[in-house]
Amino acid sequence: MSDWKIRRAPTIQTELEVPGDKSISHRAVMLAAMSNGPCVIKGFLPSEDCMATVGAMRSLGVAIEVADETTLIVHGMRGVFTAPTGEIDCGNSGTTMRLMAGILAGQPFRSRLVGDASLSKRPMRRVIEPLTKMGAKITAEGKEGRPPLVIEGGKLKPLQYVSPVASAQVKSAVLLAGMFAKGKTSVTEPTQSRDHTERMLEYFLVRPQKQGLTVSVFGGQTPESREFRVPGDISSAAFWLVAAAAQPRSRLLVKNVGLNETRTGVLAVLVRMGAAIREVIDAQAEPIGVVEIQGARLKGTEIKGAEIPNVIDEIPILAVAAALAHGKTVISDAGELRVKETDRLAAVAMNLRLMGAQVAETEDGLEIIGGTPLHGARLDSFGDHRIAMAFAVAGMFAEGETTITGTECVNTSYPNFYATLEKLLKQPTEAQTRVITSLPTR
Ligand code: S3P
Repeated sequence: MSDWKIRRAPTIQTELEVPGDKSISHRAVMLAAMSNGPCVIKGFLPSEDCMATVGAMRSLGVAIEVADETTLIVHGMRGVFTAPTGEIDCGNSGTTMRLMAGILAGQPFRSRLVGDASLSKRPMRRVIEPLTKMGAKITAEGKEGRPPLVIEGGKLKPLQYVSPVASAQVKSAVLLAGMFAKGKTSVTEPTQSRDHTERMLEYFLVRPQKQGLTVSVFGGQTPESREFRVPGDISSAAFWLVAAAAQPRSRLLVKNVGLNETRTGVLAVLVRMGAAIREVIDAQAEPIGVVEIQGARLKGTEIKGAEIPNVIDEIPILAVAAALAHGKTVISDAGELRVKETDRLAAVAMNLRLMGAQVAETEDGLEIIGGTPLHGARLDSFGDHRIAMAFAVAGMFAEGETTITGTECVNTSYPNFYATLEKLLKQPTEAQTRVITSLPTR
């Protein structure tokens, strides 16, 4: 198990890029595999989670060439795959398991999806239920709908599904299954979750329909093979954005980052907390752009309700921002965090307390009284990449040394995180300051 040792960092005066978006990389491989020909995917995130999706697709007979580290050529099979010879290993990746379940529900063969210890504890009933209604036979071998999943797919019926959870994974699993059903399948979610699947279907010339919180797709369409560019991951950028936001006189420019409105809640929260943010957005299949952030003395805020799905992966790092801010931050309606790679509410509360912060854990959130200086501590990642990275940033603000144990989990989403962290710990000698004056203020 590898550990990180982190010390207080100087102010940030630099620009950087983050690797490809994880959610979009998964979907690009899946949609390309379902398409009618070769698709070049640029800016792909070669992390363990996304490679699990590549492995899953390869085991269904899809030829995937790795042209260079971040460029894939996926040879689409028109959605007609071959039966896997062994089980499909989804590793730590909930997105791989849930979205692949949607695709496999429409295939006329049996497949078995397995995952690591963390994924084996995550709830799958949320996809089993709608996919079963569509006609797939799915058995969860774990307790209470937990993995492994055995899927016997086949002819599917369309479904009008009202999802009880605002989950992009559930929505996507049903829409992908809907591609194999005859007629119109729709999903209505309680609040807007990330809309990458709908956008990508549109980009691959499958015409989804969107009305309010309902997205529909007509089955029987074949995605048209196209080149696709994956933007940088705003969820990875969030760690550095907070590191800059919480330090007056810091200034950071993040380039080529995804700025899809269903993902940029983190920017809105940081603006409410007092950071100055400017951005330029270029509309492509996915909005992509530049974000400049200037640090400030942050203040507490409230994060709840419809904003939660938009910041679902950023809550750990926003909780760190809250501990560094003055005043109280209340996070509620975030019970979903208890069923992520670890129970993120419990993990964040424990680690913040070990660093000296004042934090109370509620059933569906956290209450943090910020402003108490943080001190270094020995902290566990709980095998969760976002916990490891969030507390590495906390360590950049702490007095003394912070040790994070079990950091290899970071390879699931951001393999080069530590290299960037080291650069930021070392500046300002090698810092390049660039002042961009043309960015409109958020
Ligand atoms: C994801 C959706 C979110 C998010 C996860 C990736 C996706 O999960 O937390 O990291 O790619 O669709 P839920 O849809 O379960 O909320």
